[in-house]
Amino acid sequence: MAALRLFIAIPLPGPVRGLLALDGETLRRFCRGSFTREENYHLTLVFLGETEEERLPAIIAAMDASAGPGFPLRLGPLGRFPGKDGGVLWRGLAESDGLMCLQAALSERLREEGFRLERRPYRPHLTLARKALLQRTVKLETLSLKMHPSRFRAREMILFSSAQRDGKRVYTPLHRTALR
Ligand code: 2AM
Repeated sequence: MAALRLFIAIPLPGPVRGLLALDGETLRRFCRGSFTREENYHLTLVFLGETEEERLPAIIAAMDASAGPGFPLRLGPLGRFPGKDGGVLWRGLAESDGLMCLQAALSERLREEGFRLERRPYRPHLTLARKALLQRTVKLETLSLKMHPSRFRAREMILFSSAQRDGKRVYTPLHRTALR
């Protein structure tokens, strides 16, 4: 049976992705790296990794069982996960109980189904660039001031498969669960 590389994420409305793409353009002036393409921006809730296809019904059941009401989200300042290759440059999210509750409920259901998930605390973020090398004189706090403010409502979560196609990372939605 085939394995799929899976993750569950909250999608971003088109206008928010548009603003993030503009932020990405701004960052390119100060930073080298592999920038996220506009259609790929998303807020990951849970990363499942390589998963057998036969596990899909259990994942979908966990998503449907943990869905609560939708909630507002607001984009925050820039942050970094450091790495040898420059690390990840991201936009944070303002604190959100709705987001943390959904992420905790979903993780718990998936663990009950036997999925082994990341044990590190959840750090909500929108990846703007990987292998991101900032110019040495540039400060993240200063760059953050150049980012567009933006807010939106989380209305659904999506199970995505992730694949490399023609050198590009492509995310394909497999299941959508509405947040009522
Ligand atoms: P990232 O943007 O910080 O890389 C698909 O890869 C999504 O799952 C991305 O949003 C990615 O976060 C997230 N993710 C979480 N843990 C991951 C891991 N161990 N490997 C790859 N992606 C991971």
